[in-house]
Amino acid sequence: MRILGIETSCDETGAAVIEAKTNGKNVKLLSNTLTSSLTLHSKTGGIIPEVAAREQVKYIIPVIEQTLNDSSLYPQSSKIDPLSSTIYRPDIDAIAVTFGPGLIGSLLVGVETAKTLAYIWNKPIIPVNHLLGHIYANFIVENSEPDARRYLLDADIDFPALALIVSGGHTDLVLMNGHGKIRWLGGTRDDAAGEAFDKIARLLSLPYPGGPEIEKAATNGNPKAFNFPRPMIGSDDFDFSFSGLKTSVLREIKTIEQLNNETIANIAASVQQAIIDVLVVKTLKAAEQYKVKSILLSGGVAANQTLRDRFELDARRYLLNAKFFFPEKWLCTDNGAMIASAAFFNYKEVPWTKLSANPELYFDL
Ligand code: KG4
Ligand code: ZN
Repeated sequence: MRILGIETSCDETGAAVIEAKTNGKNVKLLSNTLTSSLTLHSKTGGIIPEVAAREQVKYIIPVIEQTLNDSSLYPQSSKIDPLSSTIYRPDIDAIAVTFGPGLIGSLLVGVETAKTLAYIWNKPIIPVNHLLGHIYANFIVENSEPDARRYLLDADIDFPALALIVSGGHTDLVLMNGHGKIRWLGGTRDDAAGEAFDKIARLLSLPYPGGPEIEKAATNGNPKAFNFPRPMIGSDDFDFSFSGLKTSVLREIKTIEQLNNETIANIAASVQQAIIDVLVVKTLKAAEQYKVKSILLSGGVAANQTLRDRFELDARRYLLNAKFFFPEKWLCTDNGAMIASAAFFNYKEVPWTKLSANPELYFDL
């Protein structure tokens, strides 16, 4: 079985193909193609949805063609042309596509392209929740066997598992009792963790996206220089709140006459530490309460090395019975491979006529 995965929920255009043998073992990532309009957005200090959607329109077909070429499922010179007299149908079984949550304009590009391809190629669609996609990036691991394909869907993840999704738009803790058996435990009440990084970076005049910039600046800073709040760190629930942290940083900046590199580094390190403290404490508390066997970190913020190191250390120190997982950094931010992976483990076909984009999609609560 082969699945083409398509991701266009925000500013990345991604497509990938996975292949599974009939026994469901040895699932290989045949190809992965990604392009991003990030550099355009760094000029404007944030994503302009209309610009992101226009870039998606520009890249979606070339990205899909490229990934089909790379997976050797499409002759090198073939183009996707629904009006051509000879339509070449790639040897795939289904098209998986992100249908939400995300920016409506961006989502529509992926969803409508997937529907058109499903129609002209006569293939079913597998709609994928973008948040689930982030979690399933954890199942894509490097191939230890000598093989032309570097990545497999083969992580040694046992259930129950706890997933922390930390992205630009979401901060959620979910319990997984198996594939498709998801229970939402809590989430942010205001800003997401990535959003907090992005907004605070802006206050420090650092470019978009703020997460990697704060991480870079923090390497020269002292995480104890400023005592920023750790919102909701001790609350009884598994909810988060990061907007107060941004206000606190703004208040601090107003008292500083001129922001020099040293102060920026100290603020960056202290903010990063505050966000990490909250994420780690709440996740480990949930892991303990639900006696999970695996903890899965996912989403763009999971690319933060200090967060990964701290999670690994604390999970080893306090959670002897749970294994800790995080995707390779290139798989933390949006990509097509994670969508194909989520579709493989949660295979639910729908006819193309039944699919529409849903920007507000969430977990079923
Ligand atoms: O998952 P993602 O690519 O897109 C969404 O689904 O939102 O996440 C993007 C977010 C941005 O807010 C970005 O600042 C943050 O992930 N991010 C990071 C790092 N890399 C990306 N945050 C902290 N440290 C990083 N290294
Ligand atoms: Zn995402």
